[in-house]
Amino acid sequence: MRILREIPALRQTLTEARRRGQRIALVPTMGNLHAGHLALVAAARERAEVVVASIFVNPMQFGPNEDLDAYPRTLAEDQAKLEAAGCDLLFAPEAATVYPRGLEAQTRISVPEVSEGLCGGSRPGHFDGVATIVAMLFNLVQPDLACFGEKDYQQLAVIRRLVADLHFPIEIVGVPIVRAEDGLALSSRNGYLSDAQRDAAPRLHATLCELRASLEAGAEIEASLKAGLDRLDEAGFDPDYLELRAADLGPVTATTREAVLLVAARLGPTRLIDNLTLTLPR
Ligand code: PAF
Repeated sequence: MRILREIPALRQTLTEARRRGQRIALVPTMGNLHAGHLALVAAARERAEVVVASIFVNPMQFGPNEDLDAYPRTLAEDQAKLEAAGCDLLFAPEAATVYPRGLEAQTRISVPEVSEGLCGGSRPGHFDGVATIVAMLFNLVQPDLACFGEKDYQQLAVIRRLVADLHFPIEIVGVPIVRAEDGLALSSRNGYLSDAQRDAAPRLHATLCELRASLEAGAEIEASLKAGLDRLDEAGFDPDYLELRAADLGPVTATTREAVLLVAARLGPTRLIDNLTLTLPR
């Protein structure tokens, strides 16, 4: 696996691959890789001849009181995992390469509507940061396809809208959530949890499963969500939101069938997110 830190080398390497007619897949990450990321690499590997992963802890998508400095940086371990997963090329730029004029002066991309509410409500500016770095990576790599995890459900919706609105000729592949045996969705932030918090954390997924069962059986939505929030409180979470939306993140109406439960909640200082799709009864 080649490791590239500079833009000209990345462009040149990929121009050569494109000239050879090779299909290119991109897996954007912030590093500290776990099995969820490796599932993205596997999905990319199945679909393209050249798999490019990026590791960049993107300062633009972190709010002022968030965990940018604490975010785990484990480049050596990540390299070994990517190599073993069959990644061909790792792009790991410095912040000064990505944003040479600094964050304030940087052109930004904002994706309206789908970025609003949910994580966009509790993390103002977060999805502008995500959309900006992802659009930049799309421009640098010019992949045929790019893989993103379904755990970040709203992020995936933002990226799909970005690709549609800016007419990027890129297929977006959503890859199912990878969970620990006890149901906790894998996340780089799980490493922040104390032992006691790690024991409590699977209640997030368990609560979504309980809610799905009752909603699919026809339970009233508002009362079910209220009961879900109470269960999270009891388990020691401080919920940011627990919502039921249509699968496209629009509001649930009388005709909505395909829907998604979305949750963000803190356990101590750690903010966890999860989601579960379901089919509402007629
Ligand atoms: O999901 C992530 O890890 C990040 O938000 C992404 C897509 C790599 C952009 O920085």
